[in-house]
Amino acid sequence: MPATIVIGAQWGDEGKGRVADWLAADADIVARYAGGDNAGHTVVVGDNVFKLHLIPSGILHEHVTCVLGNGMVVNPVNLLKEMDQIAALGVEVSPERFMISSRAHLITPAHVALDGASEKALGSQAIGTTLRGIGPAYLDKTGRKGIRAGQMLDIEAFGDALNDMIRRANVTLTAQGAQPLNPDLVTQDYIEAAVRLRPFIRDTSTYVNARLKDGARVLCEGAQGTLLDVDHGDYPYVTSSSPTAGGALIGIGFGPGYVDRVMGVAKCFSTRVGSGPMPTELEGDLASRLRGTGENFWDEYGTTTGRPRRCGWLDAVVLRYAAQVNGFTELFLTKLDVLSGFDEIKIAVGYSIDGKRYEFPPDRLTELEKAEPIYETLPGWSEDITAVRQASDLPAETRTYVQRVGELCETRITTISVGPEREQLIHL
Ligand code: GDP
Ligand code: IMO
Ligand code: MG
Repeated sequence: MPATIVIGAQWGDEGKGRVADWLAADADIVARYAGGDNAGHTVVVGDNVFKLHLIPSGILHEHVTCVLGNGMVVNPVNLLKEMDQIAALGVEVSPERFMISSRAHLITPAHVALDGASEKALGSQAIGTTLRGIGPAYLDKTGRKGIRAGQMLDIEAFGDALNDMIRRANVTLTAQGAQPLNPDLVTQDYIEAAVRLRPFIRDTSTYVNARLKDGARVLCEGAQGTLLDVDHGDYPYVTSSSPTAGGALIGIGFGPGYVDRVMGVAKCFSTRVGSGPMPTELEGDLASRLRGTGENFWDEYGTTTGRPRRCGWLDAVVLRYAAQVNGFTELFLTKLDVLSGFDEIKIAVGYSIDGKRYEFPPDRLTELEKAEPIYETLPGWSEDITAVRQASDLPAETRTYVQRVGELCETRITTISVGPEREQLIHL
């Protein structure tokens, strides 16, 4: 691989972190390209369960250099906390192997406060954001009022820019009836963080391109998912960035000619946190069984916010669409072990809207909200498959299910996982 892109095929939390960790073994650089600490990527290494929000999963491989790309929005205080947490577990996070793009935008206390105020003002129409300030930070970026990581190199000017931004946000906060921020109280942590982060800041696009020219292998670790993409997702119930394939090129800064692998990651059922349409959403016992009780770290509770995730059957309409938007060259299907014990398993193969059949999600929210899934029912399996490592040892029903999912989204499923640990993988 010169460059491989890993992308969530659904609404996030598909297991991208574990897939990126697996692929990072053969990569030289692992770069994040979109989003910020709204992401929560779980990677299990031995007895340690890492929950990474900003730092690429590649950090857990000593030989890998990690990059926070220009397409990201970075909260410097939260980044330092995460760096300290993983350093305490023995992971080296030095400027030689961890770099922040000088062009990445910063999330400030103004953005966090504006995110909260905006969600409150939306009331029942709230997006259900992670309240990390993501939307307001991207709004300032595209509105050409943002602060870039490179500005932290001049601490005095950075402090001034931060103060200006907070004063500007206070006008909006006050108009929305929210508490304004006291710049003297909220900026100190950010200025201290800037001092510590300065050695990590550089022109990462130039760095990545120079390494690509020398034959380095780059893994682009997607965050969020295709249906949360600001263009291709269920607008307005989306995030404010482009987690899809094109976003990787923009968000790291290299050309498409290097990309030879676009790996979609899909969970074998559907989950979503936050608001917005989810045609296959289930309630009651079936949803609870898919979600789990919360006792296991892999149960369906948000890695970032702890919110219970909405759960439902796999939606092949969504996967077909994600394969189209991203041009997946292959698909990785996660969490097959969770489907053990269901008598039958359903897959949405199309939608019915006002009596008409749809193979792809309609492009208007008002239509999508009326979508009724058209289900195909497959036999389930009762066996515990967590110890299976060869496709031939899987129950016939599991193999049939996986094959059918691949057919429905017209994409080859090359790998499945049967547990969260590194070796719980089966190559097909
Ligand atoms: P990401 O945001 O796409 O990286 O996914 P998250 O880490 O937020 O959520 C996926 C969850 O599923 C994590 O707790 C993973 O440890 C867990 N997970 C991933 N693959 C498997 C699997 O095959 N089986 C089980 N049981 N859990 C898995
Ligand atoms: P990973 O990388 C799941 C969702 C939020 C909300 C919407 C907008 O772990 O898959 P935002 O805070 O981005 O403005 O929220 O997007 N969301 C995610 N859902 N996984 C994520 O990341 C998400 N990042 C954002 O729940 O619905
Ligand atoms: Mg997640």
